[in-house]
Amino acid sequence: MIKSKIRVNSEYVIGKTDSGMFGSFLEHVGRAIYNGIYDPKHPLADSMGFRKDVAEAVKELNISVIRYPGGNFVSGYNWEDGVGPIELRPKKLELAWNSVETNMVGTDEFCTYCKKIGSEPMLAVNLGTRGPDEARQLVEYCNSRAGTKYADMRIANGYKEPHNVKYWCLGNEMDGPWQIGRKTAYEYGRVAEESAKLMKLTDPSIKLIVCGSSSNLLPTHPDWEREVLELTYDSVDYISMHSYYENANGDTPSFVASNAQMEKFIQGVLASCDFVKAKKRSNKTMMISYDEWNIWYQFSRKQDVEPWQVAPHLFEDIYSMEDAVALGGLLITMMRHCDRIKLACLAQLVNVIAPIMTDDTGAMWKQTTFYPFMHASKYGRGTVLNTITNSETYDCIHGTVPYVESLCVFGEDESITVFVCNRSEEQDCDFDIILENAEEYSPESHIVMTAADKNMSNTAANPFNVVPTSVNDINGEKGTFNVKIPSFSWNVLRFTK
Ligand code: AHR
Repeated sequence: MIKSKIRVNSEYVIGKTDSGMFGSFLEHVGRAIYNGIYDPKHPLADSMGFRKDVAEAVKELNISVIRYPGGNFVSGYNWEDGVGPIELRPKKLELAWNSVETNMVGTDEFCTYCKKIGSEPMLAVNLGTRGPDEARQLVEYCNSRAGTKYADMRIANGYKEPHNVKYWCLGNEMDGPWQIGRKTAYEYGRVAEESAKLMKLTDPSIKLIVCGSSSNLLPTHPDWEREVLELTYDSVDYISMHSYYENANGDTPSFVASNAQMEKFIQGVLASCDFVKAKKRSNKTMMISYDEWNIWYQFSRKQDVEPWQVAPHLFEDIYSMEDAVALGGLLITMMRHCDRIKLACLAQLVNVIAPIMTDDTGAMWKQTTFYPFMHASKYGRGTVLNTITNSETYDCIHGTVPYVESLCVFGEDESITVFVCNRSEEQDCDFDIILENAEEYSPESHIVMTAADKNMSNTAANPFNVVPTSVNDINGEKGTFNVKIPSFSWNVLRFTK
């Protein structure tokens, strides 16, 4: 049995989690949009063609913002192709994913979907094959009231009210060799700065996200962030981070500690941001939009898909209990940096490396990773406390890491939530919780997710193989509590007054 302890004092604060931290991402790739959120032939489709059962599952995740339309897709996208009468929209070769894009769903449908499910849109503009002019036209199309060309185009398309899109990404992964229209840091920094200028002149209320590195494994990181920010610091509000993790060689102890690698990446990006802040003698602190993060078996589960199909089966990773443990660690690390990470998007939302899946028969189910994200989104909103934790440790490729990761959030409703991830495959944990200056709190529930086998997952046929359960096993009183945390599990400990 491992021993671990968390000591909490509500006066020791890291920061508040912005709701934007619980965002997601929908790209025109594979079956994320078509046969994912949108399937007009499905019996549960609404009048616009969106699946109501999928929308209900999305709503359960309480997603604050959804990034769209890409991803790599956006770097070859002409937004005008996706607006206006559907029957007139062009079918196009989509070069990021070797697919055919029908443009049945575009900006107007996406913004309407966001309204239906209670999320805010975050739109990316194409700075791969296009530039500042098309970017400011899209801002006008979405956000201007009436009486000018692009606002009137939206109204003629049936959308009288502006979409009022607040968050805008200045391109996508412009450092990546795979990116359509890839640029050097200087080339990108200049075009991002000029696009930012025109976009904010069109609508000064918008918030802009400039591209950081697509991964800390690229040799250009962290110089990319430094050079891009030197060119754009005063014009942008956030710098993006993207990272994906996978268990590529069966090294489970290292994989479930992937958040240690995420931590190093965050430190690197913050160092570049704060270097530029110091160099510019600026009073502004750059915030992070972690707008792509997830588990993705992109290198170890290669697939051979026939090119030029509409909505092919792409990147439909099935997630196991092991993936849920790894994802729990990533969530804890991001929430721990809530003073600097203000936006974050789980990439992606439906079918493509996603918590929600559908299949060709029309079934829908929730993956293991659905649940830790849902818990963080539900109970992680509030003040993250700077806790004192100790846990036994182990060595892995990321260095020495604790078996048990934990984080405490003092909720907006005055509840206290402790998230706990036990990454030991063999040992349960004897976990002490000391709530200083919170003697009036008592345990409400212990939500626990674990599985008989770390490879267990949910499927269309067995959608409830691995789901959380709620138990009442937290012992103690007057600020001193103890609970058994099972081996290889994700846990949410809830306390209320
Ligand atoms: O989410 C899948 C892809 O991963 C995105 O299109 C791209 O931005 C990243 O490389």
